Amino acid sequence: MRDDRLKATQAARLRELNSSRPVKVIAVTGGKGGVGKTTVSSNLAVSIAATGRDVMLVDADLGLANVDVLLGLHTRFHLGHVVAGQCALEDAIVTGPHGLQIVPAASGFQHMASLSAAEHAGIIRAFSDLYHRVEVLVVDTAAGLSDSVLTFSRAAHHVLIVVCDEPASITDAYALIKVLSREHGVQRFQILANQTRRSGEGPALYDKISRVCDRFLNVTLEFAGSVPYDDYLRRAVQHQTAVVEAYPASISSIALKNLASKADKWSAPQGARGHLEFFVERMVGARIGPATVLQ
Ligand SMILES: Nc1ncnc2c1ncn2[C@@H]1O[C@H](COP(=O)(O)OP(=O)(O)O)[C@@H](O)[C@H]1O
Ligand SMILES: [Mg+2]
Repeated sequence: MRDDRLKATQAARLRELNSSRPVKVIAVTGGKGGVGKTTVSSNLAVSIAATGRDVMLVDADLGLANVDVLLGLHTRFHLGHVVAGQCALEDAIVTGPHGLQIVPAASGFQHMASLSAAEHAGIIRAFSDLYHRVEVLVVDTAAGLSDSVLTFSRAAHHVLIVVCDEPASITDAYALIKVLSREHGVQRFQILANQTRRSGEGPALYDKISRVCDRFLNVTLEFAGSVPYDDYLRRAVQHQTAVVEAYPASISSIALKNLASKADKWSAPQGARGHLEFFVERMVGARIGPATVLQ
């Protein structure tokens, strides 16, 4: 009985979402920890927000939630509390530079595939409250191939893979692309080379990954550019600020702002895919099996 009522509310909320304007969802991922996912997603979100767009950054890294640390923000609640009905979404959102809205990591998402009906309704409610004020949603994912990483990536319109020129990063990026393409229907990926130390390193790294993907997988890769290794970026991290704010003329800032203007031109989602409804349905509807073992 209670479930029926919840489902009816859920359906009404989804209809409401369907009439909203399109929202571009970008998942920033990469397999390996420490490659720069949080740095890239935070600076990307800040840079897009600086152009006047309404941007939201969701910290979906459950193990090492750090968007708030990186941007020096104080948080009290996270999306897990919202889903559990312990606070409103408004209470969990913190505001960053240029009006960027940040949703801190949600431990409730750890078991996305086994959410209760009430939790489903909680997520839909949380996101339907947002529809009128988000144009771009950037999701910072965790390292590895956990169900939350796969769920957010498959639900997004654009998957940005952050890679460094080291064997472990390349292997992990490949493993992630393989699982997402073979098991979750994601066919298109943007590849960003981070922490590059010489010119030509980014394109060469992209070629290396494309060659192996072309050979074994049915995917389309695009080169999203390179972000050089930059001590100013490290300094900004230490001061808990976005490098694009603290050192806007640094080499990494220029690269990250270029990435933002590129991402702004990535095709806008069309039709049903463009609405938050689609994203939310894909998120809560996703059923991801036990961790996939990779060869
Ligand atoms: N382009 C870069 N130049 C210099 N240091 C970087 C760069 N990108 C990331 N880093 C450093 O790497 C560390 C890990 O980055 P982070 O974004 O937290 O990685 P991830 O989210 O993938 O685990 C950060 O503390 C940052 O100092
Ligand atoms: Mg991170």
